[in-house]
Amino acid sequence: MCGIVGYTGKQAAVPILLNGLERLEYRGYDSAGVAVVSPEKGLQIEKCKGRLQVLRDKLAALPPLTGSTGLGHTRWATHGEPNDVNSHPHVSQNGQVAVVHNGIIENYVEIKEFLLHKGVAFRSDTDSEVVAQLLEYTFNNCADIMDAVYQVLDRLEGAYALGILCVDAPDTLIAARKDAPLLLGYGDGESFIASDATAIIAHTRDVAYMEDGEVAVLTADGIRVYDEYRRPIEKEHHLIEWDVSAAEKGGYAHFMFKEIMEQPEALRRTISPRLRDGEIVFDELSLTDEDLRRFDRLYIVACGSSYHVGMVGKYDLERFLRMPVEVCLASEFRYSEPLVDDRSLVIVISQSGETLDSLAALRKAKSLGGYILSIVNVVGSSIARESDSVLYTWAGPEIAVATTKAYSTQLALLTMLGLYMARRLGRADSAEYAAVTAELALLPEKLQTVLASADAYQYLASLYFNRDCVFFIGRNLDYALGLEGSLKLKEISYIHSESYAAGELKHGTISLIEQGTLVVALATYGPLFDKAVSNIVEVKARGAEVVALTTDSLRDRMEKIATHTLSVPDTHPALQPNLGVVPLQLFAYYIALQRGCDIDKPKNLAKSVTVE
Ligand code: M6R
Repeated sequence: MCGIVGYTGKQAAVPILLNGLERLEYRGYDSAGVAVVSPEKGLQIEKCKGRLQVLRDKLAALPPLTGSTGLGHTRWATHGEPNDVNSHPHVSQNGQVAVVHNGIIENYVEIKEFLLHKGVAFRSDTDSEVVAQLLEYTFNNCADIMDAVYQVLDRLEGAYALGILCVDAPDTLIAARKDAPLLLGYGDGESFIASDATAIIAHTRDVAYMEDGEVAVLTADGIRVYDEYRRPIEKEHHLIEWDVSAAEKGGYAHFMFKEIMEQPEALRRTISPRLRDGEIVFDELSLTDEDLRRFDRLYIVACGSSYHVGMVGKYDLERFLRMPVEVCLASEFRYSEPLVDDRSLVIVISQSGETLDSLAALRKAKSLGGYILSIVNVVGSSIARESDSVLYTWAGPEIAVATTKAYSTQLALLTMLGLYMARRLGRADSAEYAAVTAELALLPEKLQTVLASADAYQYLASLYFNRDCVFFIGRNLDYALGLEGSLKLKEISYIHSESYAAGELKHGTISLIEQGTLVVALATYGPLFDKAVSNIVEVKARGAEVVALTTDSLRDRMEKIATHTLSVPDTHPALQPNLGVVPLQLFAYYIALQRGCDIDKPKNLAKSVTVE
């Protein structure tokens, strides 16, 4: 949700900012802007509604913005429609400061009224502009810009990652963070800020993650960081393990397709280090045996696709652990009265590790005494840092808004976690443990064979891309899998789709099935295959066309019933959704492609949802 990049050094800032914004565009793409400051020209700003390319074209037609210190921003609008004026950076009334902001200033109305009374003229409808205006107003009444920054931060309520430029300090960039991601990049004679590492990875892999309440002052010579009381602090440095190619399309038409294709490797990286001689090993877990025995209830809290991982996990984990598992939408959990206490294990799942609802739910669960174990992809993210234990998915950077490889790796890790806990608690059936671990090792290879059938999914997409409504049905694990298949489709192709537990159809939804309705029937869960067949027959009897997904061993039986049959290799039932999800991802991808949709950047969405 909004991307920030900032640079100060010896090079021209604008090309570095634009390249950084290109990699951050997935975080928001309503508008984009840059600001640079130089001793000769002061603040120079260009910003406009639309994709980054619109800004690039605009800049190309203008005399260059000169300066070696600057900020860039790509916006996902919250307050104020996407237009040129509401784009960032925002400049104060007299042009002394420019600000980029990610997050929401909750008390902006009150601050705006205060400043209006003081005669400050506002230009935009955004909450963010109040930061720039309040900074200039405060700066005019105090000794230096840092005094002003601390006074302003003291007044702000809500969430922010801020980048600040001031004409009085043209070689300095100031950054502040509360509840929105921001990292610092240490270069050779240059310093950076960014919402995530993809924006600066071409320049440095040496980063530090800002914590809430911290303020950083960046110059070409280095970065000084202060805590909320303005005491200097030493930051721990981290080395980003992947390189710039991981954040590029590498010849693929879309990031989503590239990331789908990367799934075997992502799974291998996530699974292999944790599977030794047939045993699941989590060196990074600090859970003691006493902790494990204490838990009598497990919560899985997440949003979107990560929540769908939890839905699959519930079936597996309850069976492995014989313990109640509740799967909760983070946005609901945070405002409910969950029965979490010190006997609860709360698993928070998040690709970005920055989803605000998930972070708020984590904090709530923690305040109630729960043990927080997170499954996160982005190293050093807020959710990772605030958890008692973290299991990282090693999926690499995921750029497409629609998640694919993050979902797959989360799913594998959650299943492994359930089985691992069951083993330590003495509740695992040893034959099943051996069967699942053996299949886990084979998962990347089997997934590769699913990817090899991409043509079949493309063909089906060519038959059905012009439908305006699709139903996904399934039972048990297939029901949970259908939720993800349906989300993928609607997210990127804008086709209305619903996912139903197949047994629920006859309680209402079946009235929507008519001649030609497309039903995607999921029947990969062997134990309930016959039940799935009955549901397919029911919808077919009412005119539905059925694309069925099953396993290779059940394919012959399905072909006699469904309109079209797809199959994936057989594996242990607990892992079957890991293979089943791939045809659904590719089906959605090819449909969106046929419909000419902007696959990597679907309308109204953003990758990392750091607002409520
Ligand atoms: O970063 P997170 O996993 O916390 O994100 C949660 C959802 O916003 C995310 O899964 C979203 O639903 C995806 N765009 C779905 O493809």
